[in-house]
Amino acid sequence: MRILSIETSCDETAIAVLEFQKGRKKSGSFVPPFAEPKFKILSNTVSSQIKIHAPYGGVVPNLAKREHQKNLVPILKQTLKESGMLKKIKNQKSKIKIIIKNSKLFKILEREQELLKQTLKFLEKYKKPKIDLIAVTNGPGLEPALWVGINFAKALSLIWDIPLIAVNHLGGHIYSVLLKENGENPKSKIQNLKQIQNSKNNPALAGQKIKFPAMALIVSGGHTELILIKKPLNYKIVGETLDDATGEAFDKAARILSLGYPGGPAVAAKAAKSSISNFQFLNKFKIKLPRPMLNSKDFNFSFSGLKTAILYLVQGLKKSKKWSEKLTPCVAREFQEAVIEVLVKKSLKAMEKYSAKTFILCGGVSANTKLRHRLSDSLYKKYGNNFNFLMPDLEFSGDNAAMIALAAYFESQKNPPKPNNLKRIKANGNLNF
Ligand code: KG4
Ligand code: ZN
Repeated sequence: MRILSIETSCDETAIAVLEFQKGRKKSGSFVPPFAEPKFKILSNTVSSQIKIHAPYGGVVPNLAKREHQKNLVPILKQTLKESGMLKKIKNQKSKIKIIIKNSKLFKILEREQELLKQTLKFLEKYKKPKIDLIAVTNGPGLEPALWVGINFAKALSLIWDIPLIAVNHLGGHIYSVLLKENGENPKSKIQNLKQIQNSKNNPALAGQKIKFPAMALIVSGGHTELILIKKPLNYKIVGETLDDATGEAFDKAARILSLGYPGGPAVAAKAAKSSISNFQFLNKFKIKLPRPMLNSKDFNFSFSGLKTAILYLVQGLKKSKKWSEKLTPCVAREFQEAVIEVLVKKSLKAMEKYSAKTFILCGGVSANTKLRHRLSDSLYKKYGNNFNFLMPDLEFSGDNAAMIALAAYFESQKNPPKPNNLKRIKANGNLNF
């Protein structure tokens, strides 16, 4: 089974093609290999708009929409080419078929005129690829951006007559941890973290396993959630942020420290520069930030107070003329420490309470090396080798379409898409589990 997936929820335009092996048959009934899918990534293309949004210090929804419109067709072409499925139409008859169906196509893409033009040209020139299912992210995210991907997916589904399924972006992040080459146990992960981080994705059969119940920590630009997954596709939010998301907090801290956008990698890089000699600054300049809700009884988070605290800290030092660039790594490090301490403590507590057998760290912020290390170390200390810790390869920690295809695979095994469902698929910026 081949799935073509489209992701446009934020500032990445992404398309992928994954090929899945059939599920096992058990006493006559189909058993989908939920915990252990066998698949190959035929192609995974991500086009980032970071440079376009950077001057604004954050993602501008209408700019994101415009860029997705421009990029979708070239990215589709590239993805199909890499999967060996970009074939020109030679036969005139099939061209005519497409033109007849065009009236519906015009309706679907009426708000995306540039995309419509490019899509028409593309559909008339290239053959229908050997795809069994099209998947598209329908939320959460920026609605104008989501709609472009959804409308494009609908257009392809209509013209090619391939079923379409809508996928929750957060489910994609959770399953992104399976987009790997080989299974590794937590011990080898700790020892070989560097090697793992540098590993390139080879389009190979995946071998990771999720043992249920699992606990997932999603940390991204828009979300911070602890999710209990009792069985495949059964999600329960057990904790979440009451205000800002982790990635958002990193982005704001970066702005306060004039580190640019996106803030997460910038803060992490600055923090890494904080050397032992910088420690003297901690006491001298009272560089200490709060660990919000560290000891609260629930599994919720709050990062907006931390953002205010870092702002006041920097403003205070500037006012009293004590501020200098030399303090930036130290403050960045203290901020990162504060965030990580809270995330790790609550994660371990949630694991224990729900007797989870696997811990999943995912979402854009899961690219943070310190967070990865700290979670691996803490889990290993507590559970030793009897524990399953999964996190995505760096290549798949940010938004991508491969994770959407994987989530679509699971979803379609449970709830196959209904025919004529195009009208029912809508963008939902606040979609959750
Ligand atoms: O999952 P993602 O790519 O997009 C959303 O769905 O939101 O997450 C993006 C977020 C941004 O806020 C970015 O600053 C943050 O992930 N991020 C990081 C790191 N790399 C990306 N945060 C901390 N450390 C990093 N290394
Ligand atoms: Zn995301």
